[in-house]
Amino acid sequence: MYCAHVVGARPNFMKAAPVVRAMAQRSGVRQVLVHTGQHYDQNMSDVFFRELEIPEPDFNLAVGSGSHAVQTGQIMMRFEPVVKKDRPDLVLVYGDVNSTIAAALVCSKLGIPVAHVEAGLRSFDRSMPEEINRLLTDQIADLLFTPSEDGDRNLLREGVPAERIRFVGNVMIDTLVRLLPKAAAALPARLPSGYALVTLHRPSNVDEPQMLQDILRALDEISRELPVIFPIHPRTAQRIAQLGFHPGENFQFWEPQSYLQFLALQQKATVVITDSGGIQEETTFLGVPCLTVRDSTERPVTVAVGTNSLVGRDLKRLQAEACALLRGRRKQGNIPPLWDGNAAQRIAGIICERG
Ligand code: UD1
Repeated sequence: MYCAHVVGARPNFMKAAPVVRAMAQRSGVRQVLVHTGQHYDQNMSDVFFRELEIPEPDFNLAVGSGSHAVQTGQIMMRFEPVVKKDRPDLVLVYGDVNSTIAAALVCSKLGIPVAHVEAGLRSFDRSMPEEINRLLTDQIADLLFTPSEDGDRNLLREGVPAERIRFVGNVMIDTLVRLLPKAAAALPARLPSGYALVTLHRPSNVDEPQMLQDILRALDEISRELPVIFPIHPRTAQRIAQLGFHPGENFQFWEPQSYLQFLALQQKATVVITDSGGIQEETTFLGVPCLTVRDSTERPVTVAVGTNSLVGRDLKRLQAEACALLRGRRKQGNIPPLWDGNAAQRIAGIICERG
């Protein structure tokens, strides 16, 4: 069995890491790792490879940033010769980033089977680039590994044959379970005893100057009662620099954190405020309250079962929920089924059985 894994952006790395490890433990498996280079900064890519102990990529396509069309097109053009040369038996793609759909599309045209890890998630908001990537990838994938049962239902409704769908659980949680014991040592020194940990990077929140301004003001208000720590994604940093926003003293902007640092920060946070997908899942596993600044989520299990609350883009509600939390109204949650640290082993078992 010869398989190729394709990763490109920060949230892919923690999903691929456990699958690469699980496949490496099986006999008769040869695997290669392709990094598209969608994320390329030291602190957006390299540090994750180190901490997650992912082997050096066999190929780096170095596509870098660009418009969606340019980025997706460049990945396709550079990936095609790689897979055409020594056709893998299976190509694994992860999550919902541009690298995911670009690689899946190349393979489907070449008749190379594709497995999509984290299939079936739907926000039902087609203005999100990730939703388009999810919908299209799932239509052309041959094997669809879902993290939660809502994923199975979405795929069946869209006409994906049942025999292609496997509910395996959440690979991102595999990585969390494995590395949580190491996280405490990565906790930055001199942290306040309680704090709100913030991440925002969705175009719908940061690309519209008025919206970004309003969010920052709401966070600044929150920081009067609870210190705010905001590690900024490069695209958000660019937008904030354009606004010229100057926060109060309890509101700190930080560089993007490494995986272990961010995990440690989440574990100790009073509340996490985010528009990320993966962080909604990690906080659910950790039992930390999460306020998601989005109107929809492709991860409804984190709201139905976990500690996540969707506050929409209503910033009064964000402030009210943060205050309620400080007064002791804390959402209790459970861990969703099969978020147990063994999802990648299930995936490896299914792939190897299939041959
Ligand atoms: C991508 C994913 C998004 C994911 C996010 C996580 C898509 C469509 N989006 O969004 O789903 O949640 O990654 O981080 O694939 N930049 C750097 N250094 C880097 C990478 C990016 O400075 O290493 C800057 C560039 O200015 C770039 C901008 O960030 O233009 C956006 O990067 P891009 O990869 O296009 O999308 P993300 O917003 O990171």
